[in-house]
Amino acid sequence: MSRTHHCYELTAKNTGQTVTLAGWVDSVRDHGGILFVDLRDREGLTQVVFHPTVEALAPHFNALKPESVIEVTGEVSPRPEDTQNPKLKTGAVEVMAATMVVHNVSETPPFPMDDETGDKVNEDLRLTYRYLDLRRPRNLKNLRLRHEAAQSVRNYFNGQGFLEVETPTLFKSTPEGAREFLVPSRLNAGSFYALPQSPQQFKQMLMVAGVEKYYQIARCYRDEDLRADRQPEFTQIDLEVSFIDREGMYALIEGLLTEVWKDILGVDIPTPFPRMSYEEAMNRYGVDKPDTRYGFELVDLREVFKESEFKVFSGTIKQGGVVKAINMKGLADITQGELKFLEDTAKSLGAKGLAYIQARENGWRSPILKFMSEKEQAGLKETLNIETGDIVFFAAAEWEKACAILGRLRLEAAKYLEKRGALNIDPKAYNFLWVIEFPLMLFDEEQGRFAAAHHPFTSPVPEDIPLLDSDPKAVRGQHYDIVLNGVELGGGSIRIHQPELQQKVFEDVLQIPKDVVESRFGYFLRAFQFGAPPHGGIALGFDRMVAILAGKNYIRDIIAFPKTQKGQDLMANAPSPVAGKHLKELHIEALSEE
Ligand code: AMO
Ligand code: AMP
Repeated sequence: MSRTHHCYELTAKNTGQTVTLAGWVDSVRDHGGILFVDLRDREGLTQVVFHPTVEALAPHFNALKPESVIEVTGEVSPRPEDTQNPKLKTGAVEVMAATMVVHNVSETPPFPMDDETGDKVNEDLRLTYRYLDLRRPRNLKNLRLRHEAAQSVRNYFNGQGFLEVETPTLFKSTPEGAREFLVPSRLNAGSFYALPQSPQQFKQMLMVAGVEKYYQIARCYRDEDLRADRQPEFTQIDLEVSFIDREGMYALIEGLLTEVWKDILGVDIPTPFPRMSYEEAMNRYGVDKPDTRYGFELVDLREVFKESEFKVFSGTIKQGGVVKAINMKGLADITQGELKFLEDTAKSLGAKGLAYIQARENGWRSPILKFMSEKEQAGLKETLNIETGDIVFFAAAEWEKACAILGRLRLEAAKYLEKRGALNIDPKAYNFLWVIEFPLMLFDEEQGRFAAAHHPFTSPVPEDIPLLDSDPKAVRGQHYDIVLNGVELGGGSIRIHQPELQQKVFEDVLQIPKDVVESRFGYFLRAFQFGAPPHGGIALGFDRMVAILAGKNYIRDIIAFPKTQKGQDLMANAPSPVAGKHLKELHIEALSEE
């Protein structure tokens, strides 16, 4: 191959040079038998002119159709003034084809390959032909951005004395492993590996091993229900450090993120990042990953309603719950459909209903107005600063539930305001935030019991350790989340490194039976008996970070071969049934076979 230039390079300076370009036919225009071809490679476009009178070219004219791969040699020539394309870097010149090689003649692609129309094509079709979808400049650009972000991350950690260590992806099933992918072992009948949900246990073992500073751009696997920012296999920037405390970790990660933002976007992010406790985040934003780019904060109304005639509110307060509200300023013109959606959303989170007040020109409209005294109305107006055009939503429930309901409504209602042009979120705003002081344990609705808020290796805040016996729910963990514009970018903690404390958390606090602790974590506890340094770490969702850097809402846009909502790879058609013989070798009996 003798390619001399890429398709973005040639300018008037190259006039008269004989060059060889190679790439894909982007488009073909026929001007009375002369073909004008935009030739495209990874880097850009160049116009190439094919005259039918050139003998060496004539036999190949039928190959000149979109997406065929050719190599072409010819002289660079300036374009006539009126046909120059100032939008294109190479727009002042064209290559007069003299010879060409046809590498591959393309069929007509199943969808338009240009960026604008291509983006609107049905996603399943694009994923089935992902190699074509990726070939579109916009997507190649995202792959490049991801590559550059990975380089930036590696540069940072290498410069800080970290070792990049690979950890296994065939691992052991763990007790909280309901969300694990299992892999049967042919050599050990009836036994299974699990794909790791993260390198957590290995990285802690690396600290016991004396590595001191570890990082890895690590693949993780979780069999969860998928959403915009979740994939069954995804990538973490995973790290662990010995002899570090929380302050050291905040500084380390702020250093990383400011460097990546500078490298990739040229943006200076101010440090230190603001910090907020879990309790404050829930109280003000109703979520542990607040989007602080806009207000509409939650307001506590216990004072206003504690003696109310409206028993839903006063009763909830008497039982130890709360009444909270948000004023979504300017959304009083909410449609019936939008209101219904918000009500359904509230109910799906356990609300019994959704009380609201619309402040209209001709007065307040509300299903609960009739229950409210004048004093309560005045109190509301003052506390929530209610003005004409506003709508206020209420939640009466126990604290965490009321916060969570309004937290969700705040996000949904903000979308309605954005749609109306009444809320403008700066696409260049990057609101980093540390959320800290999480409880060590949170009530897990799905499992119906208390579970580790982060994971069972998180160390309690030292001064709360005595509470482990008396009031475990009040114990705070040394856990921190890094949040960006309402997205949980990463989470980590200072770990337990004393075997007695780790055992106590497993058995007494998390109530994991002794024999299960031994079979699952025996090796882990034993390791801590041989000189475990104090250590801590964090993992950042690399896909989520790249998506935000690229300005994308879906992480699948920045993953080369993502899976669908149902966890399928439509291109290769996975997962797929396997032959009975194959299963037998793996000592597996399928309940149903297709
Ligand atoms: P955690 O479970 O919080 O912590 O995960 C860390 C970060 O990984 C990203 N992430 C995901 N990204 C895409 N798809 C998914 N399904 C997915 N799940 C998680 C998120 C998340 O913040 N071992 C601990 C870290 C530690 O303690 O050091 C861990 O895995 O951005
Ligand atoms: P009711 O008296 O039950 O008809 O409720 C009056 C209004 O309050 C209705 O609009 C309900 O949707 C709403 N509502 C009921 N329970 C709650 C609650 N726990 N929090 C907020 N609003 C509620």
